Amino acid sequence: MKLNELLGTEFPLIQGGMANIATGEFAAAVSNAGALGLIGAGGMNADTLRENIRRCKALTDKPFGVNIMLMNPAAPEMAKVVVEEGVKVVTTGAGVPSQYVPVWKEAGIKVFPVVAATALVRRLAPLGVDGFIAEGTESGGHVGELTTMALVPQVKAMTDLPVIAAGGVASGRQLAAAFALGACGAQIGTCLLVSQECPIHENYKQALLKAKDSDTTVTGRSVGAPVRILKNQMAREYLAKEREGADKMELEKYTLGSLRRAVFDGDTKTGSLMAGQVAGMLHEIRPLRIILEELWHDCQTEAKNLAAEVGA
Ligand SMILES: Cc1cc2nc3c(=O)[nH]c(=O)nc-3n(C[C@H](O)[C@H](O)[C@H](O)COP(=O)(O)O)c2cc1C
Repeated sequence: MKLNELLGTEFPLIQGGMANIATGEFAAAVSNAGALGLIGAGGMNADTLRENIRRCKALTDKPFGVNIMLMNPAAPEMAKVVVEEGVKVVTTGAGVPSQYVPVWKEAGIKVFPVVAATALVRRLAPLGVDGFIAEGTESGGHVGELTTMALVPQVKAMTDLPVIAAGGVASGRQLAAAFALGACGAQIGTCLLVSQECPIHENYKQALLKAKDSDTTVTGRSVGAPVRILKNQMAREYLAKEREGADKMELEKYTLGSLRRAVFDGDTKTGSLMAGQVAGMLHEIRPLRIILEELWHDCQTEAKNLAAEVGA
């Protein structure tokens, strides 16, 4: 079953939850444009999540969901809020949602954990989750080590549940590749940062438009918290400190509030400009609807061309 049939959306696409960026308004705009919008609850507390869900509901009658980062201290309360507010889809990041899955399933919520390796698939499949978002290291934000190309088929081989590819999808060609790897659709993040509707600071958008293929790097590997961001002063200083063997406390001086500095203040020097490797493919700021339509249309064209090319 394709992802759009599973979710009731027009396109087989999920907008990845993005902490401090994916507000109720943005998620509603994505849902109205034909993909599944997700409220990124990462930087919220239970009350602000509830407000964002209500704002989203007021702005769209299309399906939408919530992304809960399990390391967030408010995650247990948020897990209740999504049930109380009648949210239909929950994705989870940064941990194992075992304790919440039974309650969510009881409430009829579709649950898709984000996985960066197959170990979590083995643990979570028996809990009755609805599928997996297999996220490769090309992605923006918190990442694992495996590439989308290597990860998706291995997750697919381990489960009969739907697999959604995340990381490195910003064109029809890449979306077609996600299907070829066995995914039923894709989760996208970076390419939506340069949408007109995305509420990040203009400086952040311009930095993305200027970025080339090799302009992202991963900070935090030495302390077990790898994050892909655009190279800038903050990234250079952070990586230099990591090479000197700085501990977690010292490194946190750089990352504390750094995403907010990028998103709200447009501080491209000391802010953390989370972005995936597809940043080099972004050339203009466009409405969400155009970005999503083009992705899906080009995917269909590429798939046909490919079939002809391989003689199918
Ligand atoms: C700025 C930014 C912030 C992100 N924040 C989160 C988050 O809070 N929770 C999460 O599960 N994933 C987060 N991600 C990952 C996205 O949900 C998505 O899986 C990823 O962006 C897909 O890969 P792409 O960046 O190559 O499109 C973030 C990605 C970006 C670019």
